Amino acid sequence: MTEIIDGNEVAQEIRDGLVAGIDGLTDSGTTPCLATVLMNNDPASQTYVSMKHKDCEEVGIATRDIELDPEAPASALFDTVDELNADPEVHGILVQMPLPDHVDEREVLRRIDPAKDVDGFHPENVGRLVAGNPRFKPCTPHGVQKLLAAADVETEGANAVVVGRSNIVGKPMANLLIQKSDGGNATTTVCHSRTDDLEAKLRDADIVVAAAGVPGMITGNMLSGDTVVIDVGINRVETDDGSELVGDVDFESAKQKASAITPVPGGVGPMTRAMLLWNTVKAASDESGVDVELP
Ligand code: GUN
Repeated sequence: MTEIIDGNEVAQEIRDGLVAGIDGLTDSGTTPCLATVLMNNDPASQTYVSMKHKDCEEVGIATRDIELDPEAPASALFDTVDELNADPEVHGILVQMPLPDHVDEREVLRRIDPAKDVDGFHPENVGRLVAGNPRFKPCTPHGVQKLLAAADVETEGANAVVVGRSNIVGKPMANLLIQKSDGGNATTTVCHSRTDDLEAKLRDADIVVAAAGVPGMITGNMLSGDTVVIDVGINRVETDDGSELVGDVDFESAKQKASAITPVPGGVGPMTRAMLLWNTVKAASDESGVDVELP
């Protein structure tokens, strides 16, 4: 029987596991607080940001909700980041991507105080992750690591194949999988759009993490039996009666081959959201010096 890994259930466990720490921090005078900054008119980004606020409210994390006109100069965003960096009541800062073309994304990421960088995208935090001493693990790969652990998937010694090399998912995912620590120690291959013979790489995989952003690109006939398949893709595709969300994995065919597989939606997506809360609580704990047990 193929196990369907339920991201909603694992994410709920993470959220439940954070509540005691949030209450402890609040009782000692530090209510964890996440600030989001949105500078685009993209309806999907607006939905993501409002879901993040709802998630925070549900567990007792305070929020700041800042929206900037996408036509505003880059300096407006820089000033906002500077103010949030200086605000002692704000522990986590998330600038929603994408940004308008006239704003240099890298400059924004460099400007966020690394101690408040709950996305884990600041170069200092990227460097720490690569060096094996992470401060904030980026939310999606961290969520994948938690899903694998919840499904009792042993990464040590496994052949892991990450499909995709983005800064947000593919690269940090590979770095987590090769760490000398729990949830790591996997022999890890990173495949991408220029990979020769992807199928040969996938055939050898015990664990596949699909994060290429190409709907349905990994099909069951590309997998050997007994593979654990984690689908990070969230692609909206047109259908006869509207549109639907699909992953990078063709679920129905892959399910026939996989020993365990995540669905889309309801797999990695809820974990990404839960790990943002996790990172915000860690940021508040680190800043206040109040120890918190993280789930
Ligand atoms: N846009 C899409 N995914 C992300 C993410 O993980 N973090 C931020 N800040 N923006 C995003």
